Amino acid sequence: MHVVAQVSDLHFNGTAENRKRAEAVMDYLNGRCGGPRNIDALLVTGDIADEGLPTEYREALDTLVTDIPTVMLLGNHDDRAAFTEVTAGTGRTDPVNSALRVPASDAGSGLLVLALDSSIPGRSDGYLSRPTLDWARSQIADAGPDTDVLVAFHHPAIDIGIGFIDGMRQLDPRLLADFVAEHPGIVGCVSGHAHTAAVTSFAGRPHAVAPGVASTLNLPFEGSAVINSSHRPGVAFHLIDDAHRLTTHFRGVPG
Ligand SMILES: [Fe+2]
Ligand SMILES: [Fe+2]
Repeated sequence: MHVVAQVSDLHFNGTAENRKRAEAVMDYLNGRCGGPRNIDALLVTGDIADEGLPTEYREALDTLVTDIPTVMLLGNHDDRAAFTEVTAGTGRTDPVNSALRVPASDAGSGLLVLALDSSIPGRSDGYLSRPTLDWARSQIADAGPDTDVLVAFHHPAIDIGIGFIDGMRQLDPRLLADFVAEHPGIVGCVSGHAHTAAVTSFAGRPHAVAPGVASTLNLPFEGSAVINSSHRPGVAFHLIDDAHRLTTHFRGVPG
């Protein structure tokens, strides 16, 4: 069994309010959940910063402090150059893709977490390009055929019932669908962007959407306001068991 914690849409913006919500989630993971003793990986699925500013990424690094192996990807509010300058000193503008390998558990498989960049500079919708998916193919090939694969990106690949978000998801996910179909080791896809805990399916596999840390978006029948400020910051726990099955639990975190 492997456990991947996912946090998404932190929108660091220099305000105490957003920072406190992110701190509450990290306190929960590092404290009550036992940190790296019980959680194999922490996945941060984009909209780390609110305006893609270097100061916001520095605030994120100061807050997302944990011994849990962590992998981050970018969303539409992020900026590749600012993120990579602050985190790695590179200032790159090409897609920021990364991978995290978790060793095999007792009787199970190893796990590969692919963190793919679905952002399009200057746009709110998203796309996974052919080069990004080819890079992901090479990572799966390197990991070997007995490895479970969790594929992560910011923009959902399908409609989830919030029109505002459905209009700026991955608008053409055919390449992603082909990629998923090629790889039976993919246990599921996970995204952020929608600021709502949701589970659906895509290309015949589970597709989970993480709750927002900074805020929650209303469903159409929950009210006319876009944001529902009454909800707690959220975290998703993805359990990948020895039968190669993905089970996702959601938690609202006090704070
Ligand atoms: Fe967001
Ligand atoms: Fe987003």
